[in-house]
Amino acid sequence: MKLAVVGGGSTYTPELIDGFARLRDALPLEELVLVDPAADRLELVGGLARRIFAKQGHPGTISWTDDLDAGVDGADAVLLQLRVGGQAARNQDETWPLECGCVGQETTGAGGLAKALRTVPVVLDIAERVRRRNPDAWIVDFTNPVGIVTRALLTSGHRAVGLCNVAIGFQRKFAKLLGVTPGEVTLEHVGLNHLTWERAVRIGGTDGEDVLPKLLAEHGEAIAEDLRMPRTLVDRLGVVPSYYLRYFYQHDAVVRELRSKPSRAAEVAAIERELLEMYGDPTLDEKPELLGKRGGAFYSEAAVDLTSSLLGDTGEVRIVNTLNDGTLPFLPDDAVIEVPAAVNAQGAKPLPVRPLEPLFAGLVSNVTAYEHLALEAALKGGRERVFQALLSHPLIGQIEYAEKLTDDLIAHNREHLAWA
Ligand code: G6P
Ligand code: MN
Repeated sequence: MKLAVVGGGSTYTPELIDGFARLRDALPLEELVLVDPAADRLELVGGLARRIFAKQGHPGTISWTDDLDAGVDGADAVLLQLRVGGQAARNQDETWPLECGCVGQETTGAGGLAKALRTVPVVLDIAERVRRRNPDAWIVDFTNPVGIVTRALLTSGHRAVGLCNVAIGFQRKFAKLLGVTPGEVTLEHVGLNHLTWERAVRIGGTDGEDVLPKLLAEHGEAIAEDLRMPRTLVDRLGVVPSYYLRYFYQHDAVVRELRSKPSRAAEVAAIERELLEMYGDPTLDEKPELLGKRGGAFYSEAAVDLTSSLLGDTGEVRIVNTLNDGTLPFLPDDAVIEVPAAVNAQGAKPLPVRPLEPLFAGLVSNVTAYEHLALEAALKGGRERVFQALLSHPLIGQIEYAEKLTDDLIAHNREHLAWA
């Protein structure tokens, strides 16, 4: 089995490699190629990746290249984890929206739209090149904003599944609190990428007992604290929202907080500098603890689970981003939703979902419409399309803000937007 990782020079890659090494029975990798335009990073990350495989006795080979076509040639699956414009572009996304009193975040709100506009054309070009070489290869997309990027891939007919670590993070956390293994915990996870709620936490499969009320009664404080939301909010919702819902439920408070400290991009850039220095140490042969300060916990496990289900044609249930296709009847079929889905060699097919309460369906509906307009803007360009996407977003919605944010978005991203 051959896998290619596009954006393989990311400082996150050792997390992935560590997962591949530990879980090699689930995913018998023979060849792994890291593809990245940044040759200097590739050397450092690739070197450590090889040492991790060697230490853990993984027989697979690891190589790296800046040549995308050569790197993906013959791959059974291609993982996308790239960031157009790097942390510098992210820093902008997290900064200029704050001037309007709007949240500055890499995937939510105006910053997320900027990221989508930079990213969609690049990802579609990569996917086209993958398809030309290997028409049967699967694309596993980690590239944010995952909902919009996956929608771009799937509506262009690519064999793709979008993946995020939020669900697997909750599964691991709840398992720990309940004193069971993660495999025993089945989540009723519903929504859009970075806009999800855990509606039930079942032990013993999809028909098992829902222990969410018990979990909230016994560990509500710890769960809410982790989300940095008031416990009363979690109790009143009766479900566990993802921490991205903070940007909605506590928007203005988050804006005040973001204005008062350095951006996450700046923090991450500092962590990355330190990580790259560590990766250059030829005696380092495991993923350093410092990597735990990034948000990507368990993403290697999620990647292994999903890829093994796709390539092994297993039909196992994985929480992924895939086409709605009637699952949430109030959304268009070509919307991309994040739900449990049966995954086999044909792709990911959502399991049926209980009717969604208006409290959640309203936001899901609104953000889905925004994602549609965001994708239109990313594919076709033009100031008016950017404006419409921003005006439709539930965290923006006013002409005055949408106008200014449109100008700011274009001004800060001109070098990445072919049409601007
Ligand atoms: C979580 C999200 C990812 C996001 C990451 C950011 O893992 O699910 O989509 O990219 O956090 O983490 P960072 O360390 O870059 O802030
Ligand atoms: Mn994510």
